[in-house]
Amino acid sequence: MFEKVNQIAQEVTAFAVNTKEQLEQFRILYTGRKGQIADLFDDIKNIPPEQRKAYGQEVNKLKEQALTKFSEAQEQLTETNPSSAPDIDFSLPPVPNTLGTRHPLSAVKAEIIRIFERLGFNLSEGPEIEDDWHNFTALNFPENHPARDMQDTFFVEGDKLLRTHTSSVQVRVMEHEQPPIRTLSPGRVYRNEAISARAHCVFHQIEGLFIDENVSFADLKQTLYYFVQEMFGKETQIRFRPSFFPFTEPSAEIDISCLICKGEGCNICKQTGWVEIGGSGMVDPEVLKNCRIDPEKYSGFAFGMGIERITMLKYQIKDLRLFTENDIRFLRQFESL
Ligand code: PHE
Repeated sequence: MFEKVNQIAQEVTAFAVNTKEQLEQFRILYTGRKGQIADLFDDIKNIPPEQRKAYGQEVNKLKEQALTKFSEAQEQLTETNPSSAPDIDFSLPPVPNTLGTRHPLSAVKAEIIRIFERLGFNLSEGPEIEDDWHNFTALNFPENHPARDMQDTFFVEGDKLLRTHTSSVQVRVMEHEQPPIRTLSPGRVYRNEAISARAHCVFHQIEGLFIDENVSFADLKQTLYYFVQEMFGKETQIRFRPSFFPFTEPSAEIDISCLICKGEGCNICKQTGWVEIGGSGMVDPEVLKNCRIDPEKYSGFAFGMGIERITMLKYQIKDLRLFTENDIRFLRQFESL
C-alpha cells in the first residue's frame, strides 16, 4: 500500500505544470475530489489497523505537497506570468464609449443666453410656484383677465399658482434692483392645456428685460433683430405685428421669415412666409410703478419666447411631445450641439 503512495508522490513531483491546462489536469488527477489522493484516503479501510496511523500520515504529507505545488503554480500562472495566461484578445474591436448628450432644449437655451450675454444681459431665476402678485397683479393683469381663469392657470393653494410665464421673475428683479437692468429669465412655465403636437402643460420660456434711461422701441427692434440673425442666420428677416399684453404698451408679436421656404409660403408658415417666435413690447409705466421704478426717469422693453418653439423652428421638429418622451433615437440627433 505504501508503494502506491510513494509512486503517486513521485508522479506529483515530476508533473510539469506550465500552462493553465496542465494545472487543471493536475487538479483532476491528484488534488481534486475524485483525484488519486482522495482514492488513497479511501484505501485506508484496507490497511491493517496497526499501520493505519503511519499510512494516514504519509497520505496527508502527500496531500500537503500536492496542494502546495498546485497553489504555487496557480499563482505563477495567473499573476506573474501573463504570457502564459493569454486571456486578453487584442484583436477584439473596442467597446464603443457612449457619452451622454445635452437635451436639445438645454442646448438651445444655452445658445440664446450666449447671444444675449454679448449684449450685456445677465441671468435671473425665480420660483416656479408663484404668488398672484408676481405672476399677474404687478404685471397689470386686470382682476377679471381670462389668463387668471382656471382654464389657463394651475392654482396651488390660496393665491399660490404655478407660474404661467417667467415675467414673474422680471417683477422680482425690478423690485430688488434699480436700473440699468438687463436680464434674461429662462425657466419652466405651466399652463392648463391639453397635450398635443403643438401644446403642452409644461414648457420653457426665456424672457428678457431691458430698463434704463431713454430706452426706446428702436432699441427693442435692434436687439431682437440682432438675436434673430445670430440664432437663425443672417438672411433671416424679422417683422413686428401690433399686439396686446397687459404689461407692455405698445406691444408687438415677433415674426421671422419662414426658415423652410424662406418666405415663399409653405405648410409650416401656413403659406404666409412668416412664423411667430414670441411677444414683446415697451414695459407699461404702471408695471414700473408697481415695482418701485420711476417711470418718469426710466423706460424699458421686454420680450418673451418659448424655447420649445425656437428649437422646433431651428431643427424642424414637428411634435412638441418628442422633447419629453426621452426617446434615445431622437436625442442622439443632437449629439453635436
Ligand atoms: N409673458 C408673455 C407670455 O408669456 C410674453 C411676453 C413677454 C410678451 C414680454 C411681451 C413682453 O406670453
